[in-house]
Amino acid sequence: MSALRKSLTIAVAVTALAVGITSGIYAQGSDWKAPADAKNVKNPLAAKKNDPKVLGDAKKAVEQNCVTCHGPNGKGDGPAAAALPPPKPADWTSSRVASETDGEIFWKISNGRGAMPPWKHLPEQQRWELVNYIRSLQAKK
Ligand code: HEC
Repeated sequence: MSALRKSLTIAVAVTALAVGITSGIYAQGSDWKAPADAKNVKNPLAAKKNDPKVLGDAKKAVEQNCVTCHGPNGKGDGPAAAALPPPKPADWTSSRVASETDGEIFWKISNGRGAMPPWKHLPEQQRWELVNYIRSLQAKK
């Protein structure tokens, strides 16, 4: 990670922290559920499950955007996680996340909540690749 990239990532994490403290007040206390119609959205890249293309550049995108909070193996133990108030960054390999539908994870990545930033600005295909990447970490467990 370059120094610039590092400071940008930290800046993003700090901003998210500030936003998280305010919106966390409203978000806390209830389970984070995606709307029913979002849960049923089909993963357009799921049909080609064993094709390495379903991951695209997800590993790189995760390193750039997610590991500060979610950690290198998606366990929710990134360097910024300790400083964040609850709810803490999710452990992508937990049975709770594993039991969610692709559509639900896609919706959460897109919309964010509290300290979890929304990633709607990333192309849709890239967000599905992120879902597939999370699935690949779950499979490794
Ligand atoms: C600034 C810290 C931060 C960053 C960066 C971040 N997240 Fe999160 N993420 C969180 C927090 C905190 C939660 C828990 C939110 C809650 O439960 O309200 C979360 C939750 C999630 C969940 C929901 C898990 C579940 O099913 O409940 C997914 C999926 C997720 N993050 C994916 C990502 C992806 C993919 C990226 C990168 C593109 C990313 N996150 C970047 C902090 C972060």
